[in-house]
Amino acid sequence: MEYWSIEGGRPLGGTAKIHGAKNAVLPIMAASLLVDRAVLYRCPVLTDVDAAARILRALGCTVTRCGETLTVLNTEGVCCETLPEEPAREMRSSILFLGALLARCGRARLSFPGGCELGPRPIDLHLMGLARLGAEIREDGGFLDCRVNGRLRGTQIALPFPSVGATENLLLAAATAEGETIVTNAAREPEVTALAEFLNTCGADIVCDGDRIRVRGVGELHGCAFAIPPDRIEAATYLCAAAATGGEIRVEGVCPAHLAAVLPFFEEMGCRLDVGEDTIELAAPRCLSGVGCVRTMPYPGFPTDAQAPLMAALCRSEGSTLFIETIFSARYRHVGELLRMGACISTDGRTALVRGVGRLHGAGVACTDLRGGAALVVAALAAEGETRLCETHHIERGYSDFVPLLSALGAEITILRQEEPHFV
Ligand code: EPZ
Repeated sequence: MEYWSIEGGRPLGGTAKIHGAKNAVLPIMAASLLVDRAVLYRCPVLTDVDAAARILRALGCTVTRCGETLTVLNTEGVCCETLPEEPAREMRSSILFLGALLARCGRARLSFPGGCELGPRPIDLHLMGLARLGAEIREDGGFLDCRVNGRLRGTQIALPFPSVGATENLLLAAATAEGETIVTNAAREPEVTALAEFLNTCGADIVCDGDRIRVRGVGELHGCAFAIPPDRIEAATYLCAAAATGGEIRVEGVCPAHLAAVLPFFEEMGCRLDVGEDTIELAAPRCLSGVGCVRTMPYPGFPTDAQAPLMAALCRSEGSTLFIETIFSARYRHVGELLRMGACISTDGRTALVRGVGRLHGAGVACTDLRGGAALVVAALAAEGETRLCETHHIERGYSDFVPLLSALGAEITILRQEEPHFV
């Protein structure tokens, strides 16, 4: 069994170059089903991207990678409308192939998506929206069987909640639908905008105007080359790691505007920030201060994906911080592991109160999900002594080259193998 050994207590220092965003590349890979050729630059090396590539291959595409450039060729046309179960169950974004397949083939069959366990993650808004565009959706023994008679037809769709995935699925389905689609209370995340930009580069006619998106359906789309935008959550995680260790780092190739709701918290914690066009420099004090209250919200609010790493950084601080998780109902699974490291956190439903402590200590801990796993790495880097972290496959779903990059920033982190786990 693989695990990571982290010797904490060293301030991080140096430069971290940010990769393309996982949550942007996955919907764009689904969108590549709509064109004959897509060349994606800055495509991160992640197990979720591998899973999406496996799905595309099973559907008849040729997917090749050269470094951070991924090419999807779809010249033979999609040969299958059923998503392969195993990769589909591995990740939540497999649901996005539904909108793309319905638009491309008028038919799709898939099992319910997997992904991080953050509490119930229904897909009712996806299905409601696609049905409004004319899809007939039938549940058949754990599978969704969907089809369209003729083309999807544009219409007005008001989302009760600005779901990222549902908005993206509607863009994928409406881009080549007949007529105009208006989505209101749509998600505004930069990853949604990136998908609209990719589709527009392929000849679509989409206008994102705050939480209102207008899509004029076009007859067909053409191939393109597209650069995946930087991963704002990866950048936030490195900034949390530097803050937690009293370090000084520079993140490069980032879009600071995408972190407008996050950066003020670092200043409130006592860090000094220097923000450039595509760089952020952070210098942390020896001891961080609590920041009162962090409420996660849809974009442009504080991102739920940065909640766990920020919580880990604030475990060792003066004062307390209240977290209110408004997006997912069970996104504190990392708290139990942080308590093993000497943190002082009490949770009650969607709130968590972090009372800062003077020191954390190393322990045997297990990743519970992607961002929870990253949080344990942040805490381990700040802790005294060794932490042994297992179930690290969760982290590899969303952080490219995490261990070598942290080592380059001065962290003492090693990937080890052990026959039998006996430390958790
Ligand atoms: C995307 O998930 C991201 N994943 C998540 O990042 C992120 O946490 C989330 O958006 C919110 O920002 C990807 O982009 C691949 P939602 P998604 O649909 O699309 C409820 C990470 O760590 N809802 O906006 O699944 C849902 O249960 C991952 O990188 C419905 O009720 O998020 C949740 O409570 C984790 N019905 C809320 O909306 C629906 O049909 C937000 O979900 C859809 C969603």
